Amino acid sequence: MVEGVEEHLSVGRVAELAGVSVRTLHHYDEIGLVRPSARTAAGYRAYAAPDVERLREVLAYRRLGFGLREIADLVDDPATDAVAHLHRLLLRQRDHAAAMVTAIDRELEARAMGIRTTPEEQLTMFGAKLYDAIGSAYPATRRTEPRIAARVWDALGDARTVLNVGAGTGSYEPPDREVTAVEPSAVMRAQRPADAAPCVAAEAESLPFEDRSFDAAMAFSTVHHWRDPIAGLREMRRVARRVVVVTYDAGDPAGRERFWLARDYLPEFADLLVGWPSLADLTHAIGGRAEPVLVPWDCADGFFEAYWRRPEAYLDESVRRAVSVWTRVGPEAEQRAVTGLREDLSTGRWAERNRDLLALDTAELGLRLLVA
Ligand SMILES: C[S@@+](CC[C@H](N)C(=O)[O-])C[C@H]1O[C@@H](n2cnc3c(N)ncnc32)[C@H](O)[C@@H]1O
Repeated sequence: MVEGVEEHLSVGRVAELAGVSVRTLHHYDEIGLVRPSARTAAGYRAYAAPDVERLREVLAYRRLGFGLREIADLVDDPATDAVAHLHRLLLRQRDHAAAMVTAIDRELEARAMGIRTTPEEQLTMFGAKLYDAIGSAYPATRRTEPRIAARVWDALGDARTVLNVGAGTGSYEPPDREVTAVEPSAVMRAQRPADAAPCVAAEAESLPFEDRSFDAAMAFSTVHHWRDPIAGLREMRRVARRVVVVTYDAGDPAGRERFWLARDYLPEFADLLVGWPSLADLTHAIGGRAEPVLVPWDCADGFFEAYWRRPEAYLDESVRRAVSVWTRVGPEAEQRAVTGLREDLSTGRWAERNRDLLALDTAELGLRLLVA
């Protein structure tokens, strides 16, 4: 119970009881779906029994697969026909299932002609295999960075149905649209929160969906793990009207020079980029434009570049284990880089070399938003 507000529950307690995240409850409040009817003296959300009852109803519809907008219609208007909604939902699911059957038929046909590996082999040989190995360390530091998420969600425009490719644990899934996730790594799929969007085991290069089955397709920090990035992006283009991708510009050596970690401690990072498609090729595959994404100094998502103004973070093993670069360069390079950095931090050499960074709030380190 929240102090000073009788018979009310705190947001944390409601989240715990309902088995959803606090972030979800905040979002439901922001969009007016489930508004706590009171606030504590300190301004915290306080849920009364009818609020909790409404939340229960919302979550029941969510489990049936309704989108948040449809749920809002259902719970706000008692005259709305829930059965008609359910009918529409089942038709949509039937269409998706039919699309998957078509994709599997295609795969079987190709296999009969001896031109492809089995889907299972495909899923274990490339990026997914890596994430099955390192993925359990991912959630320690990898989470939504709200300022970058806002850019992605803005770029999705008015898309109602969104396919999230290489979705991982779902950090960048917009909470207010109907999301379908695609993620080939079983370890990553298993770590998705209980209330996350439904997730299909598949690869970007062969999406099991009909042409134009989504309003938008998005991919965040995953394209560089794909066996064939261009093929994957073309697939996204095929299945959606709009495509939104956050990736890295590997063809900009000046950009690489700007990031002291790769430049001064981990030159092996450049080797990982060999053979990567250029930004122009990636953009061309979806027929769109590219914009820089600046990394805030206090970035909440611990990707490789995230701690550019907090160098001590890279000394932390859990920070490194959540970023594939460190596994891919191998233990020797990793140890050498960490030892060098530790030494330079203690002698003040790092601060001397990177003094200018301390005055910056954001950095341009090669991240790009592609929109088509
Ligand atoms: C760095 S994680 C990013 C996850 C998520 N998008 C995020 O931002 O939190 C990269 C993800 O790409 C997935 N991946 C690897 N190969 C893939 C492929 N061929 N198609 C789709 N996803 C793939 C990995 O399994 C992993 O979950």
